[in-house]
Amino acid sequence: MIPVVLSGGSGTRLWPLSRIECPKQFLPLNSAQSMLQETVYRLGSLPSVSIICNEAHRFLVAEQMRQLGQRCSIFLEPVGRNTAPAIALSALDAVAKGQGDEPLLVLSSDHVITEHVVFLQAVAQAESLAKDGFLVTFGTVPTQPETGYGYIRRGSSQGPAFTVAEFVEKPNLATAQAYLATGEYYWNSGIFMFTANRYLEELSRFRPDILQACQQAMAITTPDLDFIRIDKAAFEACPDESIDYAVMEKTDKAVVIPLDAGWSDVGSWSALWEIKPKDEAGNVLQGDVIAENTRNSMVMANERLVTTLGVDDLIIVDTKDALMVAHKDHVQEVKKLVATLKSQG
Ligand code: GDD
Ligand code: MG
Repeated sequence: MIPVVLSGGSGTRLWPLSRIECPKQFLPLNSAQSMLQETVYRLGSLPSVSIICNEAHRFLVAEQMRQLGQRCSIFLEPVGRNTAPAIALSALDAVAKGQGDEPLLVLSSDHVITEHVVFLQAVAQAESLAKDGFLVTFGTVPTQPETGYGYIRRGSSQGPAFTVAEFVEKPNLATAQAYLATGEYYWNSGIFMFTANRYLEELSRFRPDILQACQQAMAITTPDLDFIRIDKAAFEACPDESIDYAVMEKTDKAVVIPLDAGWSDVGSWSALWEIKPKDEAGNVLQGDVIAENTRNSMVMANERLVTTLGVDDLIIVDTKDALMVAHKDHVQEVKKLVATLKSQG
């Protein structure tokens, strides 16, 4: 098994802690280790991992792996082209090394999984299915009609898994509600397992343009210490698409393994509040904070004393150069805030 960690996301929904120069996956949001370090650490001891990230983050990644004592190959993307190309780069590398039939365990770098043993059991089950030629997904039972996830309808049973009857990436709210009501859908956890050969075959069937661009970009890589630099011009020409739209919605070779391992993708400030230990008033308070008559809130003071009085359901994040005060029901709009900031230069 070759672990492949996708670490090129921008994590904008956790602004102002998550920044362009240090996105969410490099931050210690839920423990003393960063989310990337947690991702690698929970796999146990490994000879090596492949990490795909933006070249701007190469020293962050190298240093965080050095702290873990983990050997790794770090693929540097000159630009983000989303997950379908990122996975193709690591699959092409595996094929070039004669490991085309070895399963790739594709992981997001920004998930929380509390039950490591349960997770590793599911991974072990997935490994044999991947070797049999399936594209394995891991499904979590949905608790709300979240529109930021992929939805997987389970079909007939396939050993410890189910065939995927339908895969729908980020449905609208009404569709998500209808899916929840049937009880037949899982959330796609964003973790995948398949052999490099199988993934590349499916990509060539559905998105030969992406495969071709990645082949060109990989043909002109430049080794630089532990880093593998992907060719800029070739990779810039690659379409921007996620694996979910490019392959998972279209393939007929997918299966889903149910995963009940305390998974969360910490996709928003309220999701982080949900998973953090709280005091008796339901608050998560970090740093120098005095919160009087405050309930169900999260206050992060990184720079100075922050005080609250008589407020409920707020997220307050104070950093050196930006302060955010948001109602918990509006944290999805942080993305808009970041877009506004960018448009103002
Ligand atoms: N190398 C690289 N390059 N990594 C990337 C890129 C890129 O261009 N874009 C995103 N990533 C990384 C992110 O850092 C993250 O670890 C992972 O790939 C998934 O990307 P997200 O952008 O976080 O995807 P998502 O959350 O919108 O949706 C995916 O995950 C959901 C579960 O968290 C989908 O797979 C959904 O179906 C799924 O439900
Ligand atoms: Mg995500």
